[in-house]
Amino acid sequence: MRLPRRAALGLLSLLLLLPPAPEAAKKPTPCQRCRGLVDKFNQGLVDTAKKNFGGGNTAWEEKTLSKYESSEIRLLEILEGLCESSDFECNQMLEAQEEHLEAWWLQLKNEYPDLFEWFCVKTLKLCCSPGTYGPDCLACQGGSQRPCSGNGHCSGDGSRQGDGSCRCHVGYQGPLCTDCMDGYFSSLRNETHSVCTACDESCKTCSGPTNRDCGECEVGWVLDEGVCVDVDECAAETPPCSAEQFCKNANGSYTCEECDSSCVGCTGEGPGNCKECIPGYAREHGQCADVDECSLAEKPCVRKNENCYNTPGSYVCVCPDGFEETEDACVPPAEAEATEEESPTQLPAHEDL
Ligand SMILES: *[C@@H]1O[C@H](CO)[C@@H](O)[C@H](O)[C@H]1NC(C)=O
Ligand SMILES: *[C@@H]1O[C@H](CO)[C@@H](O)[C@H](O)[C@H]1NC(C)=O
Repeated sequence: MRLPRRAALGLLSLLLLLPPAPEAAKKPTPCQRCRGLVDKFNQGLVDTAKKNFGGGNTAWEEKTLSKYESSEIRLLEILEGLCESSDFECNQMLEAQEEHLEAWWLQLKNEYPDLFEWFCVKTLKLCCSPGTYGPDCLACQGGSQRPCSGNGHCSGDGSRQGDGSCRCHVGYQGPLCTDCMDGYFSSLRNETHSVCTACDESCKTCSGPTNRDCGECEVGWVLDEGVCVDVDECAAETPPCSAEQFCKNANGSYTCEECDSSCVGCTGEGPGNCKECIPGYAREHGQCADVDECSLAEKPCVRKNENCYNTPGSYVCVCPDGFEETEDACVPPAEAEATEEESPTQLPAHEDL
């Protein structure tokens, strides 16, 4: 091997440790970059595993294959696939690390079969082994085998960062994530394992899975003969919703929903549950419906020739097209012209609509 080993290592470390460019706050950490490279390398191993193998089983093929297996040709093929040609940073790194990977490939991979461990943890010191954290790769809380009792994430796990403390999964708490949060009960506990299971939704605390196992009831539920039952907030003496809303009870809570637009107050959804109807609407088959004022016995449009149009909640009175509008009549075109010719100045004041 002709590696200026320390120099190459120094350059690679430098490249991997370059501070992230300002435009990308979410750039991978040096450890993540190293892990990414190793992942791609391992993928390359898989992709080249069956290459040059014709599927036969001749002695010649086996010999060729075993030669290829640890050959420099295979290494080069793997390295070629590590970076997209457009990925400048990756290619730059690869250039610096090539000799490392070659050394591992040709000399060290039997002694250190785990490339990640040898390359990212031991050689470049960018990562830690799983279950360890920080500059010195110390064991996480709860040990490196099952950090945080398997119920949480160890801060800095596998990296050179963090403090090894536990951030527990939902339902768990305590420094080792072995205790159950409120709303969960311990369904299994021995020296190494702790399992917390969710209470019934009606319990704030519980000792088992049903609504008979509640210690305390959740808000919106009350204890009744040993069971937490839903409170019907809508049945309260002072209803919780406004006059233009109706109340819908739900498990542990309630909602207020708007009455139908045809209602003045309501007891439920739609025009059939109105307390009263808005002006221009009347109850018909139990529902508030628009009144057709135009078809009432007492006609609302009283001028001569006038048309009546019903509208939601009301009506309009309009002269037909071309008719002249006067205070007490709609005047047909011929008559209007005639009137105009006779005494154009004596037209009644024209009222704008
Ligand atoms: C604790 O419980 C787990 C899960 O059931 C089990 O795998 C493990 O063997 C138990 N350990 C001991 C010491 O009993
Ligand atoms: C309401 O709560 C009861 C008791 O917890 C439960 O059995 C039921 O399924 C719940 N209903 C809904 C709609 O969530």
